[in-house]
Amino acid sequence: MAPKPPHLLLAILVIFSIQTFKGRARTLKPEHQQSFSSSLQKLEGVHKGQTAEGLLDLKKYLMKFGYYPSDATLTSSDFDDHLELALKTYQKFFRLNVTGNLDSSTTQQMMIPRCGEPDIINPPPSTEPNSTESKHKKFHMVAHYDFGSAKWPPSKYALTYTFGRGVQVFDLNTLRSVCADAFQKWAEVSSFTFTEATDGASADIVIAFYSGDHGDQYSFDGPGKILAHGFFPQDGRLYYDADENWSTDPTMDQTDLESVSVHEMGHLLGLRHSNDPAAIMYPSLQIGTKKRDLTQADIDGIHALYTN
Ligand SMILES: *[C@@H]1O[C@H](CO)[C@@H](O)[C@H](O)[C@H]1NC(C)=O
Ligand SMILES: *[C@@H]1O[C@H](CO)[C@@H](O)[C@H](O)[C@H]1NC(C)=O
Ligand SMILES: *[C@@H]1O[C@H](CO)[C@@H](O)[C@H](O)[C@H]1NC(C)=O
Ligand SMILES: [Zn+2]
Ligand SMILES: [Zn+2]
Repeated sequence: MAPKPPHLLLAILVIFSIQTFKGRARTLKPEHQQSFSSSLQKLEGVHKGQTAEGLLDLKKYLMKFGYYPSDATLTSSDFDDHLELALKTYQKFFRLNVTGNLDSSTTQQMMIPRCGEPDIINPPPSTEPNSTESKHKKFHMVAHYDFGSAKWPPSKYALTYTFGRGVQVFDLNTLRSVCADAFQKWAEVSSFTFTEATDGASADIVIAFYSGDHGDQYSFDGPGKILAHGFFPQDGRLYYDADENWSTDPTMDQTDLESVSVHEMGHLLGLRHSNDPAAIMYPSLQIGTKKRDLTQADIDGIHALYTN
């Protein structure tokens, strides 16, 4: 057989690595998703005073999103008072019945994929763990979530963005078009403009897909659970979990890239999570759904943050 020209070999190599990557992703995906959901399902109905495998992971999940005091140390798999309180706060945020129990509507809510940013930013440290006053304070904090305080100065209202290296999930033109549309939604209701940087190195915002650990402290976690994160001003990183089944026009198995982009861009501008299920800034997004348009709550949020 005649030696193949190098560019043909390269093409074969590329095709081969794409195939193996796809194969790996396919076998990895259902397994991961299964373990988180099935572990939650097993916990359903476990109540205070009991010990169950999986409760420690549940506590870590709640802590990650701000439902534990900042100084909490999570060690045991006991369903204790602290977990009950964290669950109540979670249930209040997501407008579920505030039972403090692991009922099915609570575990169902946790199974919906969501943004990696916390719902309660900088939760206060615990005071006396069993004082009713501190419980009361923590419990009511959720109702008064605000729209953030970190923001861009007026000199930075003309923001630039670029697409970073990372996992290639979409071709650049697709990504460009989706991100331009998503930025446009915020530009229409604020003083911001968003332009792709010609000199990538100096862009204010960097957009990329990553899988698993990617160098910040917030590793992605395979399919489901966490979809993406966008950092508050003036950080500018918007990263998507490359292991989701992304699409620009999702089927029932896929996650809508534009919906998640509009949400994460809200964080880039300084907005926090809203507990209004219709709002773009609501933390969760069901697989297979599109939620691309700002609601009045989102618009009020950006106005409140940037008018004084
Ligand atoms: C809350 O509890 C009521 C009465 O038990 C029930 O009808 C309703 O479906 C529950 N809501 C949620 C979100 O679970
Ligand atoms: C917490 O509760 C326990 C038992 O319910 C009690 O013995 C203890 O004194 C309480 N601690 C505080 C700081 O209130
Ligand atoms: C990704 O979505 C496609 C299109 O609906 C579907 O065929 C495929 O099974 C999905 N993959 C996973 C791992 O869910
Ligand atoms: Zn978010
Ligand atoms: Zn990250």
